[in-house]
Amino acid sequence: MNHLFLHCRPGFEKECAAEIQELATAAGVYGFIKTREGQAYVIYVTHEPDGAQRLVGQLHFMDLVFARQWFVTTAPLANLPPGDRVGPLVEAAQALPAARSLVVETPDTNEGKELSTLGKKLTSPLMAALKKQRLVDPKSRWHWHLLVLSGQCMYLGVSPVDNRAAWPMGIPRLRQPREAPSRATLKLEEAWHHFIPEYEWDVRLAGGLRAVDLGAAPGGWTWQLVRRGMFVDAVDNGPMAESLMESGQVTHHREDGFVYQPKKSVDWLVCDIADKPARVANMIALWVSQGWCREAVFNLKLPMKQRYAEVARLRERIEQQCEAAGLDVALAFKQLYHDREEVTGHIMRLR
Ligand SMILES: C[S@@+](CC[C@H](N)C(=O)[O-])C[C@H]1O[C@@H](n2cnc3c(N)ncnc32)[C@H](O)[C@@H]1O
Repeated sequence: MNHLFLHCRPGFEKECAAEIQELATAAGVYGFIKTREGQAYVIYVTHEPDGAQRLVGQLHFMDLVFARQWFVTTAPLANLPPGDRVGPLVEAAQALPAARSLVVETPDTNEGKELSTLGKKLTSPLMAALKKQRLVDPKSRWHWHLLVLSGQCMYLGVSPVDNRAAWPMGIPRLRQPREAPSRATLKLEEAWHHFIPEYEWDVRLAGGLRAVDLGAAPGGWTWQLVRRGMFVDAVDNGPMAESLMESGQVTHHREDGFVYQPKKSVDWLVCDIADKPARVANMIALWVSQGWCREAVFNLKLPMKQRYAEVARLRERIEQQCEAAGLDVALAFKQLYHDREEVTGHIMRLR
């Protein structure tokens, strides 16, 4: 298994490629990139035969910013006959470890969407054929992936159950809540799913906690905090949705979010202000290093060029400021499905 397949947002292949190349080289797994602008995936081909398997064993998926999902595989299976695609797929599966349930995917492009029906049609016959060959094991540490590139060309691979995105293609199935005042609400919900393990939600996102929302209007993010039972100071010169104010859990401050300071430290800071990313990064570092919040979710707008380098630069800046304040922090970034030209950051004080 010397191919590592990485899904990413279309248009961000270069960033995804730069990131995996750097991390793989640092891990001593050398190889080269195969990708094309707009195809929504990147393949890292390793020089050593089992390099891709070694990479998913050594790297943490959570450390990747631009990859939405990954799996290890072999070269693509091309020229699949329309009359029997399953046969050659099962033959290829013999070179892979037995795995659990099957995830059927396509690249996140318009052409990819058109192929999802074919993928769904293949699911049952492929699973049945894999079971017959004893290649399905519910206790395996792998999941099967079938990636449909076209009717004739597919990848069959596996991803580690404990080191991958929870959703097919890394795209969460979240429903837009009717009562939320903006579509942006899903961004915070996705961030929580990504950064906070489900078993910690009852403590870290508990009712009664206090939060500040900078750039809050009309209130999509505040709505998520209120839904968890939190009390929110919402900072924005723009108007907040009436329905949220009626909850009695929200105090609206018509102030500049970059100047606002909480009277007492809070559990959560969230910030969705679209401003210069370095300005937002400095402010987040200030809040954490001053002890004004325990953890934070924030968005960083990306520049047109050098986007991978910019994330690395801002990460270093926040870490340095926290270190200078004598703080140990956990800091992570992800380009979420609901992010466009931006990444979402999460920071938490460890001591
Ligand atoms: C993308 S919108 C936020 C959407 C919000 N998170 C939601 O879910 O409804 C950005 C908001 O940032 C606000 N904003 C921009 N600069 C700001 C500043 N310096 N201080 C406070 N708010 C600011 C804007 O008024 C705008 O309402």
